[in-house]
Amino acid sequence: MNMDSVRIATGESHSKLILVGEHAVVYGQPAIAIPFPLKIRVQVRKSIGEITISSLLYTGTMKGIPSEMNGISECIKNALMHLNKPLKDLNIKVCSEIPLGRGLGSSAAVATAIVRGIFLYFNMSLTKDELFSLVEISESHAHGKPSGIDMMAVANDTPIYFKRQEGACSFKAPKPLYLVVADSGKIGDTRRAVETVKKNHLADSERIDAVVNRIGEITDKAREAITRGNLRNLGSLLNKNHVELKILGVSDEIIDRMVDTAMRAGAIGAKLTGGGMGGCMLALANTIKDAEYISKELLKGGAFKTWFFSTDGEEIYESHLGNEGEIS
Ligand code: MEV
Repeated sequence: MNMDSVRIATGESHSKLILVGEHAVVYGQPAIAIPFPLKIRVQVRKSIGEITISSLLYTGTMKGIPSEMNGISECIKNALMHLNKPLKDLNIKVCSEIPLGRGLGSSAAVATAIVRGIFLYFNMSLTKDELFSLVEISESHAHGKPSGIDMMAVANDTPIYFKRQEGACSFKAPKPLYLVVADSGKIGDTRRAVETVKKNHLADSERIDAVVNRIGEITDKAREAITRGNLRNLGSLLNKNHVELKILGVSDEIIDRMVDTAMRAGAIGAKLTGGGMGGCMLALANTIKDAEYISKELLKGGAFKTWFFSTDGEEIYESHLGNEGEIS
């Protein structure tokens, strides 16, 4: 984050991947999330008059903001009220690499970057508690009653082990993870996915509790596999987690097909990531070369977009189809 003499403050955040434990985390089980190096930057600058927003989704005054961005406008208002600042004279410009609605934490990341940008603009220090309570306002608009893992993950630069009652705990992976992420191209709906699981839980709590508990066990074993550097074990736990997510009803045909494609292309494990019902899947590879190959196979197999990266670096690579089906 930086601020220059013409009074522009830049708040930053990044995307996240849930490695294991999504949905079960809503019911008190642990989940593991890692940073995904797609960035978001929000510039806050002086602009006399009503507060204006410039973003891919909407450009205009805060008053005219579309309903799907109400959480963001509430978050901005609350941040300014918290700082005793007037609700005017600002332009907030969002530049994001994170695709919307793909389970990659875009809503939490934009709110995090906005809050950071606003505090920086007014030269105010920001505690973690202040950040999370402001981002939570936006997240509950976006997802209903979220577990809180997304906002913790996008604000952390290390893997986190998260439990709703206990919060996030950072931990280290001794070996890098080589990961591929594929976007199905279908907008995921985390709120609907969480509500579907909730409805199923109300209808048959014993069955859903059993799935949720199994996912919790998978997550604990995955943490152990990561800290011991046992990636083969981690891969098979990802596969097991995907089976449980299918039972919960949050995967779909496209994600399942991409998981199969990744496994056929040599992944050690693959699963849906995030809320599901569309969105993205992830695959674990043995090497960065393997990750590149898997990402290309996914693209050839119809994935809308694929990325691959190593958790020990900042770089992220996106595969593209060339003119003759070549991939660069
Ligand atoms: C969304 O990234 C993760 C979910 O578990 C929802 C939540 O934890 O709030 C599906």
